[in-house]
Amino acid sequence: MICLPMVGWCAALPGAPLAVFPINEESIAHLRKQHPLASVEVDDPVYKRKQRYQGFWLRDVLKDLDSGGHAKTDVYVRFRCKDGYLPIMPLARAVQAKGLIAIRDANAAQGADWQPAPGSGTFSTPAPSYLVWVSPPGGPDEYPWPYQMDAIELVSSSEALAGLDPGGSKPGQALFVTHCLKCHAVNGVGGTFGPELNSPCGVTEYWNPRLLRQFIMNAGSVRAGTRMPNFDSLPAKDIQLIIEYLHFMAGHKKPGAVCP
Ligand code: HEC
Repeated sequence: MICLPMVGWCAALPGAPLAVFPINEESIAHLRKQHPLASVEVDDPVYKRKQRYQGFWLRDVLKDLDSGGHAKTDVYVRFRCKDGYLPIMPLARAVQAKGLIAIRDANAAQGADWQPAPGSGTFSTPAPSYLVWVSPPGGPDEYPWPYQMDAIELVSSSEALAGLDPGGSKPGQALFVTHCLKCHAVNGVGGTFGPELNSPCGVTEYWNPRLLRQFIMNAGSVRAGTRMPNFDSLPAKDIQLIIEYLHFMAGHKKPGAVCP
């Protein structure tokens, strides 16, 4: 893959991102010259409190990246994190909400850019960047909050969703992409905050159907101490469609995935 260092246009090889914006000292210095540093307050679901951040609007960076003017309906944004977390979201959705690529926690100690993450051994600070959302429509849980984010990519929807829909387009797939994919992968595609749901075994193969539905609506009522958010505001029919999609995918695993 051939990329220019700043705006990161890549030669369009099959499977390669359409464009890449690496996040490092060099690209941040470059951004600082082009855009003023914005300062925002957000309801932070990772720190579980209001937090203030400084950074650059995601929208501005996406506009620079998308200078080829891709049809927004067919393009996804993919956020690359150091720990392998790889959430995606449709470009159209990413530019509608107010995402900020935070490069500094406004309450960090003098001389530091970040406060350590609250009582967690899983990451020390969100450097080099952390994507936060200002009053996102639908609520913070509907958006990915990737930390230790070191690149933003534009990818075609077929590349982003490869493995998620083997031709038999199910209505539950779109709901799954909206609500679940940022934390969960299916056939290796999606987030890693929660477990993979289809490989090698599909959740509908080993969960009791009644408890699976209950768990998705209100995980804490089935498992104490769960980190999975509640979806009790989703209509029961949407949850049913998501379960049907997961059931369908259990019959369409990636090659080599065999449930014992
Ligand atoms: C904010 C992240 C997040 C979102 C969004 C999310 N989950 Fe989860 N989910 C988790 C985590 C973390 C777990 C791991 C187990 C736990 O903490 O209980 C989990 C566990 C699960 C499990 C149990 C897997 C197993 O076999 O143990 C299922 C099923 C599941 N999620 C389905 C869903 C569905 C369906 C959606 C979308 C409607 C969804 N999740 C959205 C984080 C999330």
